[in-house]
Amino acid sequence: MCTGQHRVQGARGEGAEEGKVSNENKDLSSPILRVLPAGLIELQESGWCVCAIFFLNMSHYRFLKLACHLRIFSRQRKGRCLYNVTLIPGDGIGPSIADSAKRIIDATGVKIAWDVQIAGSLGVEKFNDPLPKQVLDSINKNKIALKGPLTTPVGTGFRSVNVALRKEFDLYINLRPAKSMAGVKSHFENVDLIVFRENTEEFYAGIEHYIDTKKSAAETIGVVTRAGSERIVRAAFEYAKKHGRKKVTLVHKANIMKYTGGLFLEVGSAVAQDYPNIEFNDRIIDNMAMQLVMNPNQFDVIVTTNLFGDILSDLCSGLVGGLGMAPGANIGTEAAIFEAVHGSAPDLEGKNLANPCAITLAGAMMLDHLGEVDAAKRIATAIEGVVKRGKNVTRDLNPNSFVTTTEMADAIIEGMQSAS
Ligand SMILES: NC(=O)c1ccc[n+]([C@@H]2O[C@H](COP(=O)([O-])OP(=O)(O)OC[C@H]3O[C@@H](n4cnc5c(N)ncnc54)[C@H](O)[C@@H]3O)[C@@H](O)[C@H]2O)c1
Repeated sequence: MCTGQHRVQGARGEGAEEGKVSNENKDLSSPILRVLPAGLIELQESGWCVCAIFFLNMSHYRFLKLACHLRIFSRQRKGRCLYNVTLIPGDGIGPSIADSAKRIIDATGVKIAWDVQIAGSLGVEKFNDPLPKQVLDSINKNKIALKGPLTTPVGTGFRSVNVALRKEFDLYINLRPAKSMAGVKSHFENVDLIVFRENTEEFYAGIEHYIDTKKSAAETIGVVTRAGSERIVRAAFEYAKKHGRKKVTLVHKANIMKYTGGLFLEVGSAVAQDYPNIEFNDRIIDNMAMQLVMNPNQFDVIVTTNLFGDILSDLCSGLVGGLGMAPGANIGTEAAIFEAVHGSAPDLEGKNLANPCAITLAGAMMLDHLGEVDAAKRIATAIEGVVKRGKNVTRDLNPNSFVTTTEMADAIIEGMQSAS
């Protein structure tokens, strides 16, 4: 049984996972120092510390390599899992792309115990609930989930599972990168945007009703809070700081929605003062939509409220070639759920033709979030290589010569293995 704990956004380095050493609070400027503690822990655990004297005669580089190998070997030998992750394969194309993502993630060597859970249409079929209690229990326990797309039944009383999950775990950050990739047809080159969408407030909070039984009018109330605005804008700045991003653009409609938009802009501008090294500007949503389709390269990190964020993040996916390659993350202080931006694509269900990259890139974001930065990079690099070559890709990427979902996943795994 695996006992790994997960690090969450804003809490990285506060506690080390079992068998891992948190180095983040120490000044470890040299690579050897960064790996040394972890290597020594593994050596001790393996009962090999008697060999330590031998290492004293080795060069730093050789020691580094050996320590890494021993660390990997030690983990593999014990078959120990580092992380428990809830896996929700989802509906439609979900099971097929989730299986591909799982195989690719497992091929990185990061040990994950997958806790597979049923939700969505299958949940309705089996338990008469699109979000059965055991799914919530599993995420509550593991704190990390990789989720396939879920079909939201239309015209029934069932709530949106995606919205319910965000509310249940207070996943206030919706983070979606939109990055150009060679081999993916798009109108622009070198786009590299990160959208931070507030995920819990405003028009998605579910405060809506008809004003009378005749349905003569309907009302949706969008509440924007000071605390909610502050945490999402701060998250965007913290991300920018950590990843060397230069600029944060806050998007609003404060000229018309003077209270909700006004509060978001006021709070965001105050938060920006704490980050003098990161450029800050704001744009009104309609102007922003036009600017993005005219010249997306002028933007870097974008932060906005729920509804505008929903629309802008799809727009940004479109700028880099559509949904097949677009990953996303829903992150809170306690838990995080990673998923593809696209839906369950009922038109492709059972055909083994769906592109597995979006959910796999979401899996790479999950690994990065867990601190498995190298594994995350290897996945991203292998996907870039396969997509750039354009041979072993699904129909959406090359309609004239394509392979199945499974075959594309195989090619990505092969790419990772041949690179290491
Ligand atoms: N996060 C989620 O779980 C999520 C997100 C969006 C939509 N949905 C749900 O999904 C269902 C279908 O929604 P929709 O049809 O509007 O959007 P969709 O994203 O499922 O499909 C839109 C188009 O993109 C294509 N497409 C999507 N993913 C693809 C992939 N991986 N590879 C190749 N092509 C792909 C589809 O074939 C379709 O032509 C709905 O029930 C909706 O509520 C769920």
